[in-house]
Amino acid sequence: MKKLLRITLMIMMALFSFSACNSTNPSGGNHTLPENDTPAAVSNVLIAYFSCTGTTKGVAEHIEAKTGGTLYEIVPQIPYTEADLDYYSGGRADKEQADSTARPKISGGVENMEKYNVVFLGYPIWHGQAPKIIYTFLESYDFSGKTIIPFCTSHSSGIGSSATNLHSLAEGATWLDGRRFSSGTSQSAVDEWVDSLGLKVAPDVSVFDLGSGENGHAPTVTLNSGYEMPILGLGTYSLTGETCKASVKAALESGVRLIDTAHMYGNEREIGEAIRESNVPREEIFVITKIYPGEQYSHPEEAIQESLDKLNIGYIDMMLLHHPGANDVKAYKAMEKAVADGKIRSLGLSNWYIEEIDDFISQVDIRPALVQNEIHPYYQEQAVVPYMHNLGIVVQAWYPFGGRGHTGELLSDETIVKIAEAHNVTAAQVILRWHLQRGVVAIPGSSDPAHILENISVFDFSLSNEEMNEIAALDRNEKHDWY
Ligand SMILES: Cc1cc2nc3c(=O)[nH]c(=O)nc-3n(C[C@H](O)[C@H](O)[C@H](O)COP(=O)(O)O)c2cc1C
Repeated sequence: MKKLLRITLMIMMALFSFSACNSTNPSGGNHTLPENDTPAAVSNVLIAYFSCTGTTKGVAEHIEAKTGGTLYEIVPQIPYTEADLDYYSGGRADKEQADSTARPKISGGVENMEKYNVVFLGYPIWHGQAPKIIYTFLESYDFSGKTIIPFCTSHSSGIGSSATNLHSLAEGATWLDGRRFSSGTSQSAVDEWVDSLGLKVAPDVSVFDLGSGENGHAPTVTLNSGYEMPILGLGTYSLTGETCKASVKAALESGVRLIDTAHMYGNEREIGEAIRESNVPREEIFVITKIYPGEQYSHPEEAIQESLDKLNIGYIDMMLLHHPGANDVKAYKAMEKAVADGKIRSLGLSNWYIEEIDDFISQVDIRPALVQNEIHPYYQEQAVVPYMHNLGIVVQAWYPFGGRGHTGELLSDETIVKIAEAHNVTAAQVILRWHLQRGVVAIPGSSDPAHILENISVFDFSLSNEEMNEIAALDRNEKHDWY
C-alpha cells in the first residue's frame, strides 16, 4: 500500500512542470520570473507544513492531491499540548511567539531536500506570524534556487506580514505570494489557487498524438526536460562507415528526424558527417548518444567531450547511460553538468528496469527523460513500460522487431501477418504502429532506404483495440539480448 502511494506520488510529481509565474521578491514587489530559451522542466514539489490541530494539514493534503508533491509534516521534538496552545494564556506558544530567538526543535527531517525545487510551506497563524518552528525549519536547509510558496490557516487573521517576515531566513529562494485559508477549505478552492500560480500539467508521456503524424513525418512527444522528441527514429547499432552515413542520409531524406547512436557503436563521427552534409537544419534533428560503462563512466567528462567532438553538431539532444554499471551515478552527474553548460539538452538511461530506477532517481537531480530498453512483441515489458510512464519518463524500444536473429520469426508471426494483411501494410509497419499505440517510441535500425521509408510510413492506418490485444497476447517475456 505504501509502495502504491509512493508510486502514485511519483506519478503525479512527474506530471507537473513549473512555468514562468508571478513571484514576490524579498522587498515585497512583484516581478515575473524571466523567460529563457530553455523549456520549463518538471518540478519536484515538496509540501512542508506544521499543524497542531489539523487545519493546515487539511490544506496541505489538498495541495498534495493537486500537485502530487511529497508531503512532509514538520513535527516538533516536544509536542504542543492543549495547554501550550491556549493562546493569550501566557503559555508555551505565546512565549515562543514573543521571543525572537525561540527556535523549537524539529523531530526528523526532509530526505533529499536537494531534489525539490518547489516548496509549499504551510503553517497556522500564531499572533499574526508564523510559529517559530517554521523559522527553525527554514534555517535547517539551503533553499537557494528553490521557489517557496507560503500558505497559512488562521481563525480570522490574514497572512499579513507572516510570510514576508520569513524571507530573510531563505534569501536565496524565490518567494511567491502567500495565501491564507480558513478551516474547511475545499479541494476545488486549493486547486484554483494552485492553478493561478502557473503550475501546469505536463503532457502525458504514455499517449502520443498519432493523429498529427503523416507518413514521412512522425509526431513528437514532449519530454520532462521540456524538449520535443520525434516518436520514430533510426537505430544505428551495427551501422558503420559509409553504410552508416548513407543510412542516416536516407533516413533524413525520408523524413526521419530522430537518430540513435552510441559511443559503443563506433559511428558517431559518420552520423555527425551525415547530418552536417544533409540539407536538414540541425535544430530539426534529434540525436541520442550514449556513454558506456568502464573507462567512460570513470572519466565521464572526457567521454562526453568525445561524443561532442565526434558528432560535431554543436549540442547533443540527449545522452544516455548505456547500461547500469560502476560509477553510473557519477557519470550521470557529469552529464547533468553538461546540461547546465548547454552541451547536452536532455538525459536518459538505457537498459534500466524497475529494480534500478527508483534508487537511481533518488541520487540524481535531473530526472531521466527517457529509458531505452529492449522491447518487441515477444518481450513487451508490460510492467516496465507503465512504471516508467508513471514517472514521466518516455520509453523507447531498441530491437523493436525482435533483434538480430529473431526479426525473421517476428515478421512472419501468424498474428502479425494476419493483421498486416487486413490493413494492407507490412508486418514491420504493424509492429511499429503497435509500439506507438502503446506509447513506446521505436528506433528500428536499417540500411535499406526502402525499409527506412516504410518504417516511417505508419500514420495512415491504426490498430483496433482487439488487434492491440492480440499482439499483447504474443508476449513470451523472451529477451533476445543480455542487457
Ligand atoms: C498560539 C496561537 C496563536 C494564534 N493566533 C491567531 C491569530 O493571531 N489570528 C488568528 O486568526 N488565529 C490565531 N490562532 C488560531 C490558529 O491560527 C488557527 O486555529 C489555525 O487554523 C490552526 O491551524 P492548525 O490546525 O493547522 O494548527 C492562534 C492559535 C494559536 C495556538
